[in-house]
Amino acid sequence: MAGRAVGVGHGLHRLVRADRSAERHRTENAVGSMTGRNAIVTGGARGIGAAIARRFAYEGATVTIGDVQHLEGERLADQLGASARFEPLDVADARSWEAVLTAAEQAFGPVSVLVNNAGILRTGGIADQEPEAFRAVFEVNLYGAWLGMHTVVPSLRRAGGGVVINVSSTAGLMGYADLGAYTASKWGLRGLTKTAALELGRDHIRVCSIHPGPIRTPMTAEMDEAIAAAQPIARFGTPEEIAAMAEFIAVEATYSTGCEFVADGGATAGSTILNDQD
Ligand SMILES: NC(=O)c1ccc[n+]([C@@H]2O[C@H](COP(=O)([O-])OP(=O)(O)OC[C@H]3O[C@@H](n4cnc5c(N)ncnc54)[C@H](O)[C@@H]3O)[C@@H](O)[C@H]2O)c1
Repeated sequence: MAGRAVGVGHGLHRLVRADRSAERHRTENAVGSMTGRNAIVTGGARGIGAAIARRFAYEGATVTIGDVQHLEGERLADQLGASARFEPLDVADARSWEAVLTAAEQAFGPVSVLVNNAGILRTGGIADQEPEAFRAVFEVNLYGAWLGMHTVVPSLRRAGGGVVINVSSTAGLMGYADLGAYTASKWGLRGLTKTAALELGRDHIRVCSIHPGPIRTPMTAEMDEAIAAAQPIARFGTPEEIAAMAEFIAVEATYSTGCEFVADGGATAGSTILNDQD
């Protein structure tokens, strides 16, 4: 029995290796919609950021994955091959950003796509939440994205233009009880997106925000599926559905800047409260 288990394990390892090598081959030979683009994706080690990094690489981009999760980030970059690299990044740290930009430019040239995706969520009512928790959420979700744009815009200019995609939330479109810090940070990111679009349009840099509803990732691993039950599309979304939107913004949405792209299963479409009374 033990021998069989080892055999199956070896078989699986071989399959995983073959799959990774096929993935690497596909990525390194890709001529897709993102060919010639050079992207930085923050929070790219897992969840939505990892799906965006993977899709961009498949579609021909070079990608620098920045994250505080070194192991997961390195593993993903390894899977994606020579067109991707991992760099340790704490988005709330200016020196960390400088190091990532230097590494990304040395490896792949000026950056043409910046995805500010790194984010954290802390629950707590306004009367109860620890001030430090509020500050931590703002440092990553809002200051981190500002610092990203602040650091990378000169590179986007060197590239002759490009796109910034800021991952906000439906919490940047409406309020959520017990999510004051998160909601305020995501509304702030939406406002910052519009300001950046106004400032950078003449440099041929578009800036848009994405507003996901509930997406199944490690961040929402503990959340009940019932959260999505009242939506017109009554399920959690997938990270890949957000990655598809990011690619659309980067490649196809050439007349869109300073605006919101919503992928929320209809969560913010309105209320069914009157129907529910029948
Ligand atoms: N999952 C959802 O339902 C959902 C919905 C709306 C918006 N979002 C937003 O999408 C983004 C990605 O969320 P996710 O669900 O993939 O979350 P996740 O927790 O699975 O992944 C977030 C990633 O960000 C990284 N990160 C955290 N702090 C960082 C820092 N200081 N510097 C660099 N990296 C850091 C984490 O290590 C992690 O890899 C977040 O901004 C989140 O607020 C998620």
